[in-house]
Amino acid sequence: MCGIVACTGTPGAGRLLLDALSRLEYRGYDSAGMAVSVTGDPRSAVLRTTFRVDDLQRRLDRWSPGLSATAGVAHTRWATHGEVSVDNAHPHTDCSGRVAVVHNGVIDNVLELRAELTGAGHTLTSQTDSELVAHLIERCLTQTSLRAAVEAAVQCLRGAWALAVLDSASGELVVTCHGSPLVVAESEQGVFAASDLAAIAPWVDRYRIVEDGDVLQLAPGLPWWREGVLVEPPSSVASTLRGTDLTRGLHPDFMAKEIEQQPEVVADFMATWGPSIGRKLWSPFGLAMPRHLTIVGCGTSLHAGRAVAQVAARLGGIPFTSIEASEVAATTTVPGSLAVVLSQSGETADVLRAVDALHGRSHPILALTNNPHSALARRAQAVMICRAGPEIGVAATKTFTAQVVGGTAVVLSMLAAGGVLDRSDIHRLVTQLESVADLMAYAIGAARGSVPDLVPALVDSPGFVFLGRGPGRVFADEGALKLKELTYRWAESHAAGELKHGPLALIEHGTPVIVVDDGSDRLAATIEEVRARGARVLSIGPEQATIPARTSTNAHGLARGVDWLGPLESVVGLQVLARELAVALGRDVDKPRNLAKSVTVE
Ligand code: F6R
Repeated sequence: MCGIVACTGTPGAGRLLLDALSRLEYRGYDSAGMAVSVTGDPRSAVLRTTFRVDDLQRRLDRWSPGLSATAGVAHTRWATHGEVSVDNAHPHTDCSGRVAVVHNGVIDNVLELRAELTGAGHTLTSQTDSELVAHLIERCLTQTSLRAAVEAAVQCLRGAWALAVLDSASGELVVTCHGSPLVVAESEQGVFAASDLAAIAPWVDRYRIVEDGDVLQLAPGLPWWREGVLVEPPSSVASTLRGTDLTRGLHPDFMAKEIEQQPEVVADFMATWGPSIGRKLWSPFGLAMPRHLTIVGCGTSLHAGRAVAQVAARLGGIPFTSIEASEVAATTTVPGSLAVVLSQSGETADVLRAVDALHGRSHPILALTNNPHSALARRAQAVMICRAGPEIGVAATKTFTAQVVGGTAVVLSMLAAGGVLDRSDIHRLVTQLESVADLMAYAIGAARGSVPDLVPALVDSPGFVFLGRGPGRVFADEGALKLKELTYRWAESHAAGELKHGPLALIEHGTPVIVVDDGSDRLAATIEEVRARGARVLSIGPEQATIPARTSTNAHGLARGVDWLGPLESVVGLQVLARELAVALGRDVDKPRNLAKSVTVE
């Protein structure tokens, strides 16, 4: 949550910061702001808004400090401490206005610090935890360097932070982090720090990852302190982000683009990993064949994990338990179980806390993530990168599919290494997994053809019920999550058989019931039960469904679906349905209210 960026070295820092901020906005969009240092003025010039980055853009054109400055910090906020207001928007300054701070993370010992600082005469103007950091730095800055003052300040903090601190008296910038991601880079356009490489990707070819506790000056050569000692900066990493990855192209929004990208994501993954699926992929993990899987994640990633675990259960008879990451600490786990932890960002705080708990219980951890440099990837024993490319839309789409396919590749390899599947099984199953790219392409075309006509009759519905059975259930859950986050309408998902045990009471004339049809005969009875009570039933799955997702013949040169994967392709129609309804309701599809892409607070 929240995105920070800092830059120094180029006139017009305000424009660079703003440009970077527009690519960080997916991390939170409750308010935005920037601070720059102006030659001859020891006070930071600050511009803040409770609107979005484009409002800052309009104001920047008339804000001369931002146009001339060579150093600054900027922030886009997802509110934690304190309501959405200008006072609570970042950057925050100290009493003198000299120090400006942007912060991503949450400070836990707020009450104690607030009491201490106000007792010492500091005037606090916001309800945020972040403002406290500016005042803690101010306390030391008169006696020491900015770097040492920042080091002293973070000693007082408990919680998580990525901080960029501007001293406007000197124009100096210092950054540090603990439990929140931060990268830095030097380029012709200046020296940068950001929560996410995407923010600065157009200007940098290589970047460096800031480790917890590192403190560095944002200046040429990147003077870098680790445990108080000046050290060589860590090796740089080549950026794989291309400019086009971060643009919508001709698509109306990022979500539309990312839905469309699913076939190429699958094809790319299979081209890279397909030939290795089997022992070759599994051996480097150094993991034994598990007797049980513990699936851990949040939201869409947890759904992807359940879909993967179903494959292991179906093909290998391996039992599993799935646990929301935030519940792991409070849940008993099966001793020795392989923990499969999924997170597209790899930075979700609940997930990282779960990893700590799983480590404490000696579970081996296999991570599935889209972010090779994430904290999750660094903390897991074995990692599979899903290769979906940057996902900018806040609602996860292509990363869901990539996690299912990536996780399935791992499961097939695990079963091959464990002797459950032989070479010919693997050959057959990999060929089928490759066909998912075509299957997704078919499902996208079919959803584009069928969904828009359904929208007018659904758009005024206050609530939706999603049903699935067996392998289809997890996709129904995912469809309901997508619909509620994008449309802000209630959506419940149930096992079809559970309906008569309570949820049936919700059904009235016209209630939309969306059924993920995995081919189970018993769904017909459920459909009749809801129809009899006036529900508007929409099925998704076979060719004759309301939203077709697979063909019944090979007439199109396509696979007919991959039964052991469950009705994975149905997720496309569900994504398209949620997006089309959201567009019809005038929602911001890429930035649904109250949400953020990277949930770095517990
Ligand atoms: C839903 C969605 C969220 C995320 C969840 C976990 O569209 O995007 O439910 O799936 O916040 O995020 P990651 O996968 O980054 O751990």
